Amino acid sequence: MDRQNFYITTPIYYVNDRPHIGHAYTTILADVLARYHRLINVPTWFLTGTDEHGQKVQRAAEAAGMSPQQQADETVVRFQELWRKLEITNDDFIRTTEPRHQEVVRKILQDLYDRDEIYRAEFEGWYCVTCERFYTEKDLVEGHCPEPGCGRPVERITEPNYFFRMSKYQQWLIDYIEANPKFIQPDFRRNETLGFLRKELTDLCISRPKSRMGWGIELPFDADFVTYVWFDALVNYISAAGYLSDEARFEKLWPASYHLIGKDILTTHTVYWPTMLKAMDVPMPETIFAHGWWLVGRDKMSKSAGNVVDPIAMANQYGVDAFRYFLMTEMSLGQDASFTEEAFIRRYNTDLANDLGNMLSRVTKLIGSYFDGKIPVPQELGEGEERLKSTTLKAAEELVTSVDRMRPDQGLNGMAAVVREANRYMEARQPWTLAKADDTRADAGTVLYYAAEALRIVSGMLYPVMPGKMGELRSALGLPGGDPVFADLHEWGRLEPGTPIQKMKILFPRIQAPRETVPVKEKAKPKQKEAPVGVVQIEYADFAKLSLRTARILEAEKVEGADKLLRLQIDLGDEQRQIVAGIAQHYEPDTLIGRSIVVVANLKPARIRKIDSNGMLLAATQGDQLRLVTVDGDMPVGSSVG
Ligand code: ME8
Ligand code: MG
Repeated sequence: MDRQNFYITTPIYYVNDRPHIGHAYTTILADVLARYHRLINVPTWFLTGTDEHGQKVQRAAEAAGMSPQQQADETVVRFQELWRKLEITNDDFIRTTEPRHQEVVRKILQDLYDRDEIYRAEFEGWYCVTCERFYTEKDLVEGHCPEPGCGRPVERITEPNYFFRMSKYQQWLIDYIEANPKFIQPDFRRNETLGFLRKELTDLCISRPKSRMGWGIELPFDADFVTYVWFDALVNYISAAGYLSDEARFEKLWPASYHLIGKDILTTHTVYWPTMLKAMDVPMPETIFAHGWWLVGRDKMSKSAGNVVDPIAMANQYGVDAFRYFLMTEMSLGQDASFTEEAFIRRYNTDLANDLGNMLSRVTKLIGSYFDGKIPVPQELGEGEERLKSTTLKAAEELVTSVDRMRPDQGLNGMAAVVREANRYMEARQPWTLAKADDTRADAGTVLYYAAEALRIVSGMLYPVMPGKMGELRSALGLPGGDPVFADLHEWGRLEPGTPIQKMKILFPRIQAPRETVPVKEKAKPKQKEAPVGVVQIEYADFAKLSLRTARILEAEKVEGADKLLRLQIDLGDEQRQIVAGIAQHYEPDTLIGRSIVVVANLKPARIRKIDSNGMLLAATQGDQLRLVTVDGDMPVGSSVG
């Protein structure tokens, strides 16, 4: 990594409600990335905050019988307390009601208005109250709000308003995105934005008449209006960095390395924000990275479904570090992931209690019993030692690369593999037996030294994810407290023989699965039947990882030069996608349009014959016959199957 500066942001969260696991995820991810960059000595700035204006907050305040400012003041504390609890190391926290932010927004607005980038016009359009957005007739989906996950009825509204000339930047933006492949990540999100930009871009309504919605930053050139919440909120990324207030600081921090966001706010970040910056003549951020969605089991998390996961409860019950570890390892960055308590407990018990925790207690116990509680002196290398050493060093390097490629989950899972390997090494070498006899005790010392070295490196590499527990682990090995020295994590043999180790209690006590979280199917299980040869039996939780959903085929065409493949455009209800399917020899493209199918919606995107494929359809096959799997009767597109 050759960065001079690492500036990472999270979305600023609405203060209409308390934070949930989705907010926790984005912020923990940003924290982990920030901590890795600090570890490798890249000057790092990590910004988070709250989005306090607009209709959502005003409504929540009304419902709670408070002023919007009171609503914001009470709710912001919940976010700040959560970040403290989750060991988040943000360098700044911005609230959009702070004067330092409001002043910058007003300066920007005045400047854009003076330069005719903003104009006044009579406006008529369809308005979604929940999303606070206007739509044109053709944006609407069956007369309803087109926003994924919304779909509510819209209202017809006519009123004077102010508009930002966003449309004039359409071609510039397309060119910019095409010339800068890293600007929007992952690639399939970049394609999504480019797809959005195939439609004509309209100007952006950036005002709200106070008569309708008064909670916002007053326009500097017309006191009857406040600023549209997104035009206000996006500016936080530069107002907090010193734009128009501390130019020296701004020079140092901007452009941001990453705007980390969820896929729900892709358009605002990849269309509104770049065109706003362009009009202001501010350089573009390096990368806007949209991660996927945490589902609860296979369902969307929502208050009405009563399945919202409370991060405070999780951290209280299982510990902050384990919670951070689970979120970071379970989601393949970019894809959706499924949260269940069973999956959490399984990963905890496997990776942390059995593998890592157990390894530490074995190593420290044996060193305590046979080596006077001091790190033993290693003897010469055998094959097993050589392998453990090279696997560990390689995984450490790969973790660094994975962070740079925005796939920390991969690097972290690589660390879990090192721990498994180290446990296998211990099993093979049996230091507990070697230590008992005088003539092999020195060999036991070598094994324990090697195992302890692997633990030293793993704990250092996992430190950004689990600072508390890895700190404890490191002091158990006699290592100094505080952040590990990064260079030491790429060198074997830094543990000093003779260093006293510390006794410690069990690092990750095993969790007994609470009764009610065991899936019903497993409880009622009769005697297990042998799996037929060649068919692997899976846990229910493995199955629950699949997101199977109904979809409608919108377009189908043959893929040139591939006689088996069709390119399909499908509707999943909340989004449209392209998939490539090997069904060309069984279906004429035209006969497929409008048909209902079942797809694996969370399959990793692939490129097939240079065409992006986001998901896979299900079909029954036998010999050379193939028939599509469909649903018996009418179901809304996007329904979950399982
Ligand atoms: O959109 N899975 O704020 P917000 C993963 N104020 N991440 C999730 C999630 C889930 N189920 N649910 C929420 C806003 N998130 C605006 C942003 S930025 C200038 C203004 C995370 O409170 C994810 O990062 O609705 C998502 O983008 C964000 O919370 C939305 O938070
Ligand atoms: Mg939201």
